[in-house]
Amino acid sequence: MVTVNQNYLKLPGSYLFSNIAKKVSAYKEANPEFKDSVISLGIGDVTQPLAPAIIDALHKSVDEMAHAETFHGYAPDLGYEFLRSAIAKNDYQSRGCDISADEIFVSDGAKSDSGNIQEIFGLDNKVAVCDPVYPVYVDTNVMAGRTGLYNKERENFDGVIYMPCKEDNGFLPEIPADEVPDLIYLCFPNNPTGGAITKAALQEWVDYANKNGCVIIYDAAYEAYISEEDVPHSIYECEGARTCAIELRSFSKNAGFTGVRLGFTVVPKELVRDGAELHSLWARRHGTKFNGAPYIVQRAGEAVYSPEGKAQLKEQIAYYMRNAKTILEGLSAAGFSVSGGKNAPYIWLKTPDQMTSWEFFDYLLEKAHIVGTPGSGFGAHGEGYFRLTAFGSYENTLEAIERIKNL
Ligand code: MLT
Repeated sequence: MVTVNQNYLKLPGSYLFSNIAKKVSAYKEANPEFKDSVISLGIGDVTQPLAPAIIDALHKSVDEMAHAETFHGYAPDLGYEFLRSAIAKNDYQSRGCDISADEIFVSDGAKSDSGNIQEIFGLDNKVAVCDPVYPVYVDTNVMAGRTGLYNKERENFDGVIYMPCKEDNGFLPEIPADEVPDLIYLCFPNNPTGGAITKAALQEWVDYANKNGCVIIYDAAYEAYISEEDVPHSIYECEGARTCAIELRSFSKNAGFTGVRLGFTVVPKELVRDGAELHSLWARRHGTKFNGAPYIVQRAGEAVYSPEGKAQLKEQIAYYMRNAKTILEGLSAAGFSVSGGKNAPYIWLKTPDQMTSWEFFDYLLEKAHIVGTPGSGFGAHGEGYFRLTAFGSYENTLEAIERIKNL
């Protein structure tokens, strides 16, 4: 008789953003008169078109696919050399990080990598996550069987170390006091709170991980939004990170590839645990389960690092960060308690009048036709908070803030 992976049955409800999409569709169906006025500042999906340098690279590589001499079939499973070299040079070596092209694994996006990376670790590893947290880290460890059951009262999973990120600790995780984790997921600049970590504070995590044999899975998907000097763009800016950290990066947020799909993972060769090089394990996993990101998409990724691409994307980031400023200042003037939005495209706000996160979600949707993301969807300590994204159009962002002010 076929049995199913019982771990899946531990997961309550559906994936956060699928759940929100369903709710919004139901609302639009029930209220067709407001269908066109709904503004989404919910999921962190970009709205600006791909930059011209990227479009040119796509056109050119699509044309190459039309001729036998320049046609490309399966991509190398770890990524084309031209892209891996551009990443190593521009994202790492230019910042003084000792990362080489062959430590970079190109993929179809950071969501897949952040979900898949846990596969190379034993099931008995203890996982630590921030609370609130990007749900993929927890859900994929639940699916793998690395956690206990969902505890309805605590609204989290047994067997996971949750590191509360609250107002009184500046929404930053603290090193667990009672128990030493094996795998530590950190995301900076942070999704969902929009908070950032200084290099000195990140160095403490690296030192802790090296001292205790932990591995940090560092999600740097939002690094392009960093505006402050002492905030690191990569964990490899910290001394000793090569022996304790894996870094995940995305082309979605810095270059608008949410619908194109491209990302990469860095696994330094010095990272050894349990007698095995994690680089070799990830290469084995990648080679077996992934046939490489498409040639045309990797050429588009290469264009991100061209002089034109860099200039155009700088403008795109500035466009979204103007939205972040508009939200931050607008809500602050309206009396909301807000944070984030300075080094990240997310604004984290306290719900007014003691509303729960989902009550505020319904209230905003019904009264202002605005979609955001309930903080409790990211974890128990997100309750009473709400996330807005800066990825909308400027016009919609202005309109949304006006509507919220007028509530
Ligand atoms: C989010 O809204 O948290 C992100 O868009 C999700 C993702 O990048 O997968």
